[in-house]
Amino acid sequence: MIRVMHTQITSAGMADIHQVLADHHRYWGERDLRSLHLPALVQEFGETCLVARAEDGIHGYVIGFVTPTGTGYVHLIATRDDARGTGLGRRLYAAFADAAHRHGALRLKAITSLGNTGSIAFHRRLGFDAKTVDDYNGPDQAMVVFHRALPFDATQP
Ligand SMILES: CC(C)(COP(=O)(O)OP(=O)(O)OC[C@H]1O[C@@H](n2cnc3c(N)ncnc32)[C@H](O)[C@@H]1OP(=O)(O)O)[C@@H](O)C(=O)NCCC(=O)NCCS
Repeated sequence: MIRVMHTQITSAGMADIHQVLADHHRYWGERDLRSLHLPALVQEFGETCLVARAEDGIHGYVIGFVTPTGTGYVHLIATRDDARGTGLGRRLYAAFADAAHRHGALRLKAITSLGNTGSIAFHRRLGFDAKTVDDYNGPDQAMVVFHRALPFDATQP
């Protein structure tokens, strides 16, 4: 029998971030991004920080906010290792886009490292353009910067 688990996307709270940090490797593998999970972002931008919950815990999350110039910025997005490839990343982006739009966003933006080929493919598939920006993170520290306009239609690439 195949059991279909219901996943619900809701606002993130501090307990969710602690849970995600406890299971950090299931979202990020060998990369240690724990220091980027700033409690202040969840405390201050709760409306645009979301988690996907199921019976067996948190399947994915997005931490983001809307800038004063109308950019919905995704600081972190990840899905749990056993939830990948199911469309959850796309659903999380759609939910974030809705929340960001309600708070005045006109466009979306995110960044990733040059080596994160999975993230680059994922964002391109979601309709973002991807540009390498030299010195984004400081001297000789290029990053890939993603942009796309809103609205975000979750059914379209
Ligand atoms: C990147 C990540 C969030 C994608 O989540 P996901 O739930 O697997 O994504 P989805 O299943 O919603 O995929 C959406 C689309 O992107 C494509 N895609 C996702 N990951 C991909 C990959 N690694 N390579 C190629 N395409 C990919 C899917 O094929 C899908 O295309 P489709 O809708 O046309 O079928 C997930 O792999 C992850 O958490 N990675 C580790 C953390 C990370 O690197 N986050 C990004 C930092 S900026």
